[in-house]
Amino acid sequence: MNSAIPPEKDSDWWIGAVIYQIYPRSFQDSNGDGIGDLNGITSRLAHVKSLGVDAIWISPFFQSPMADFGYDVANYRAVDPMFGTLADFDALIAEAHRLDLNVIIDMVISHTSDQHKWFRQSRSSRDNPKADWYVWADAAPDGTAPNNWLAIFGGPAWEWDTTRCQYYMHNFLASQPDLNFHHEDVQEAVLDEMRFWLERGVDGVRLDTANYYFCDRQLRSNPPREQVEQNTFSSVNPYGRQYHVHDKSQPQNIVFMQRLRAVLDEYGDISVGEVGDEDRSLATMAAYSSGGDKLHMCYTFEMLGRQFDPALFVEKVGGFIAACPDGWPCWAFSNHDVERHVTRWSGAGMPPDHLARFAINLLSALRGQICLYNGEELGLTEAALCFEDLQDPYGIRFWPKFKGRDGCRTPMVWDSGEHAGGFTTGKPWLPVSPSHLAQAAEAQEADERSVLNAYRGAIRLRKDHPAIARGAITFIEASDTVLVFERELSGQRILCAFNFAETACEIDALAAVPDAGILSSSAAGSPALLGPFGWRIAAV
Ligand code: BGC
Ligand code: MG
Repeated sequence: MNSAIPPEKDSDWWIGAVIYQIYPRSFQDSNGDGIGDLNGITSRLAHVKSLGVDAIWISPFFQSPMADFGYDVANYRAVDPMFGTLADFDALIAEAHRLDLNVIIDMVISHTSDQHKWFRQSRSSRDNPKADWYVWADAAPDGTAPNNWLAIFGGPAWEWDTTRCQYYMHNFLASQPDLNFHHEDVQEAVLDEMRFWLERGVDGVRLDTANYYFCDRQLRSNPPREQVEQNTFSSVNPYGRQYHVHDKSQPQNIVFMQRLRAVLDEYGDISVGEVGDEDRSLATMAAYSSGGDKLHMCYTFEMLGRQFDPALFVEKVGGFIAACPDGWPCWAFSNHDVERHVTRWSGAGMPPDHLARFAINLLSALRGQICLYNGEELGLTEAALCFEDLQDPYGIRFWPKFKGRDGCRTPMVWDSGEHAGGFTTGKPWLPVSPSHLAQAAEAQEADERSVLNAYRGAIRLRKDHPAIARGAITFIEASDTVLVFERELSGQRILCAFNFAETACEIDALAAVPDAGILSSSAAGSPALLGPFGWRIAAV
């Protein structure tokens, strides 16, 4: 147990940190059942450490019926047997700490599984002690749902329960009922579940859907969005046709964030809140991360979409700083919920491996924390799966317009061997993409120009230069195709220039840089000339 804050620990370690996300089902299987597990993760921590990252975030490994692959928790204090035991988790933490890696776990407290004992009790009657722990409501007079709220995974956000003869609310699957945070006891209970892990020695929590904790007490309907563009998320998923002003991001959440922070502060541990809030994301992130008394950082979807141009970075990074000058955002280009960025941004015209190198140099030059998703350091593309291979209920529901999240969740490839790339000796739960085998970690080790080594280089640069890790950022140029910004700290200045176009361009700001100042470059040559899709990072 380590309830005391270790005296030697730098409490600001998380500022500018690099976090590595591990999707446990797909990282490394240790027992041949085709599903990754905790012992598998422990056995691969040396690889993670070799990247130079500061922390790992492990997606949920708690007891769960796995309807949403662990994002539906049935018991917060137990490891699902498929992933191992609490003792395996203790061993994982011990090894991570020996390697000086911080461990962040995924707290999914906005909802539980319908198999959780809290929900079983809550649904058993209208007057049991946990009757109000979830969001229950009577039917409208005509029998339909209490309001127009929709579930992200399809259909209405309301499910009829025949014991209580009432509806309960769910933002995702019907088997993921939403906890009622307006109830004090619920807040206490979820904070207690979190304490269990803080006591066990984790260094932080990632808070799943952190702006979904509260919904409107009066259950008012959301207003419709007037304009829905063709071929967008909103045209495929009706969830996008509303302004989500009443079913999430409620003001009461700010007070709960302060409460949660006070618990974390007792342990010196940190929080990463996932915020997805459509047009209001930057404002919500700012509200949650300002003042030093709420979340340490928010993890955002802002760079997880299709847009990939200079304007995106100016708007999002610049926009966050304007809204929250004292806050530290966390940026990511890929995760377990979206198409891998090498595929998602292929429209930029860059060859895939080049895009992977360009992107990590850009991501790791940004102000804020950065989060990498397992496999991106190998330059993995989105795996193409057929309908029969799909596991993700979201993809199954919205096929074929939206193919779901399995294509970014296929197993890691450790070696080029024919058997599942070293991921398992059994049958992997999702097929290993044959095209991924050539990109296996082992094959990239020796190649200086490999994507893997580009990741190591970009992260090392960030570590070696406090101006990159924690400095101010000033945008100098942002045309349709060119992005130039400066990072500065205590007089150390670093210029970062990226050419998104297939034609070379001259960057005036780089002209005076001596050769010796160049820290990272897509190709050698005159300092001011950026080749096609080129980049340069230089001390000035
Ligand atoms: C997670 C998803 C999950 C959802 C519901 C998220 O945003 O990242 O994987 O399906 O929350 O828990
Ligand atoms: Mg296994």
